Amino acid sequence: MLTRGTLPVFLGAVGVLADVSIYPYPVPIPTPGAAYVGWQAYDPTTLADPPLPQSIPPLDFQIQLDTSGNPTASQATLGSFLGISIEMSLSEAVSASWLRPQFLNFMSALKERGGPPVLRLGGNTQEKAELVDSLPGGASLAKFAIGPTGYTNTPTLQYTLDILKALRAASDLLEIKWFLGVPMNQTDPPRLEIVEKGETVMGEYLWGWQLGNEPDLYALHNYRSSNYTELDYMDEYQSILADVTADPNIQVKNNFGGPGVCCLWDLGDLINNQNYLGRFGSQLNSLIIEHYPLDNCDPSAHDPQQVLNSYMIHSFAQAFSGQYSAIAATANAAGKPVILLETNTASCNGFRGLSDSFAAALWATDLALNLASVNFTHMMLHLGGQAAYYNPFVPPPHNASAPFMWTVGPPMYAILLVAEALGTTGQARVADLGANGNNAYTPGYVIYENNQPARLVLLNYMGDTSGASDYTAHVATDASQVKVRYLVAPQVISKTNITFAGQSFGGYFESDGLLRGEHQTETVQCSGGSCPIRVPAPGIALVFLTDSAYSPDDDFKTFATSHTTKMHNTAALPAGALETSNGMNGGIRKTMKLASTSTNKKNAAGHRADTKIGGALILASILAGTGVFLA
Ligand SMILES: *[C@@H]1O[C@H](CO)[C@@H](O)[C@H](O)[C@H]1NC(C)=O
Ligand SMILES: *[C@@H]1O[C@H](CO)[C@@H](O)[C@H](O)[C@H]1NC(C)=O
Ligand SMILES: *[C@@H]1O[C@H](CO)[C@@H](O)[C@H](O)[C@H]1NC(C)=O
Ligand SMILES: *[C@@H]1O[C@H](CO)[C@@H](O)[C@H](O)[C@H]1NC(C)=O
Ligand SMILES: *[C@@H]1O[C@H](CO)[C@@H](O)[C@H](O)[C@H]1NC(C)=O
Repeated sequence: MLTRGTLPVFLGAVGVLADVSIYPYPVPIPTPGAAYVGWQAYDPTTLADPPLPQSIPPLDFQIQLDTSGNPTASQATLGSFLGISIEMSLSEAVSASWLRPQFLNFMSALKERGGPPVLRLGGNTQEKAELVDSLPGGASLAKFAIGPTGYTNTPTLQYTLDILKALRAASDLLEIKWFLGVPMNQTDPPRLEIVEKGETVMGEYLWGWQLGNEPDLYALHNYRSSNYTELDYMDEYQSILADVTADPNIQVKNNFGGPGVCCLWDLGDLINNQNYLGRFGSQLNSLIIEHYPLDNCDPSAHDPQQVLNSYMIHSFAQAFSGQYSAIAATANAAGKPVILLETNTASCNGFRGLSDSFAAALWATDLALNLASVNFTHMMLHLGGQAAYYNPFVPPPHNASAPFMWTVGPPMYAILLVAEALGTTGQARVADLGANGNNAYTPGYVIYENNQPARLVLLNYMGDTSGASDYTAHVATDASQVKVRYLVAPQVISKTNITFAGQSFGGYFESDGLLRGEHQTETVQCSGGSCPIRVPAPGIALVFLTDSAYSPDDDFKTFATSHTTKMHNTAALPAGALETSNGMNGGIRKTMKLASTSTNKKNAAGHRADTKIGGALILASILAGTGVFLA
């Protein structure tokens, strides 16, 4: 029988591999007995909702808030806290020859809520990526299916400066800041071309360079011999930083983040015993961590259903951040921001049914706010591509030249909500409320602005379609009314039908990066100094305690498709494929409109007429058109 929370928490598990999800090389592996054998990113297989806890928590409880003006809370946090880590081999999905309007729309939605997004481009593929002057056919990215190591799924990349220019062009539009990966596959000579040539291209939009990716896995990936130690790594890091100092083509010498340790080395040992921060402090701009709570590299090691039950509790997120809180304090004291540069529900593409369900949105929201509460600066959810379950969003496979619609995964809704919860001031301070007696199923966070409670995020981890496990939190406040937006889905295991404030990006192959539907905000009347906030099971309520905390208002603008920016000739796409209508030609749009099951609606802001795309017929034809469903 499945029970809740009985798994040990697999933190710091030895043998966690970095993600090797590569687009578009891996051929989908048919699962015996399963109907679906297509790309993981579109797998409709669902798990069962976790069972309700044996002891149902109180469903009606008080929340007191600290209005003293001197709250115990995190440091000031940016609304871009929860960002996206993009595997370098996927960079053409966001940039390449065109700035994808879908990508710009996603980023615009985040900027509207939490200020300019912070993204990371890097990962395993950064280690052997090579910046070249030009590529055949004017392409900006080329992949060679030659495993540089025993890991045959990791291609070697060549890219041109056009990739960085595209990132910069996106930043010019939306002020996106970037962490970019610098290879460390060799030390002598180091490979610093991306820094030498990219520095001026990226300008003020470079957050920092990540020098080396997961060095604790170098031996495992055959980048180094098996006797490679933390001390070897430290010496190499030092030698590369010395080269940076001596390099006349690099202007900024102190914009490097590390160590990017993942799973095999003890970060605490590097920091406390090996003096990592002291030794590199003058050139170090951040402390980088890369870690997933569990790995799925050996799919037989974990039962996704049982894992799901363990993820759907607050203590899971608390345990993850708990293992880093002392390290974070040490790094912050040394003036180094702490970045979880790569994570997601599980490494090696995530768990089917978990990583691509509403559960992932609940988990990511809880973990992000928990890490913010212990003074992390950023957390980046990895985008792995077609072979991954956990993508915040993913462009269609290359074969799908039309209609070229994107798929948005549940993690994207967490990113939206966290951006809105932290807002645009850059002064938000976060605290775990320990709500409901620190009950594991009903966690809550308070976000302070000017040291006064401004917003709340209340989660309900229980899955109960009957409504009997919804809870009501009675929030103590002087306000006469508060506003609430909900992130909800029918079930914990729902893969689609997720809405935030009534809006959705749609299902598989339905997104152009714009939220669709009426933007809904509920107003809750308060009385006697208390506001009753209902939180559905499952669901998340984002509560705005003051008018000034309420942003964006219902009038916010969506990013117009006219921002489509032609960059360079493309090798990947048919010319003009994205020129109009977010990559759909008018004919296809029309067909979809006809197939729609509901009337077209303007969103509340009236900036754009939404075309609600639905209907099994049209979906089937899209899928057939892409060759995604093989079964
Ligand atoms: C986080 O930073 C704030 C502000 O500096 C500090 O008051 C708080 O104690 C820190 N929290 C932790 C868990 O270190
Ligand atoms: C590092 O990567 C580059 C580019 O792929 C490659 O040419 C070089 O041989 C690699 N170095 C080592 C030591 O493997
Ligand atoms: C580590 O292994 C390499 C290759 O086998 C060898 O050349 C080197 O001397 C070894 N280093 C140490 C410290 O044992
Ligand atoms: C692309 O199409 C070819 C032939 O139509 C097929 O063999 C291949 O599996 C497709 N690739 C993807 C990623 O769907
Ligand atoms: C999800 O939405 C579709 C329409 O977009 C609807 O047909 C379906 O019944 C919904 N599923 C659930 C579980 O609500």
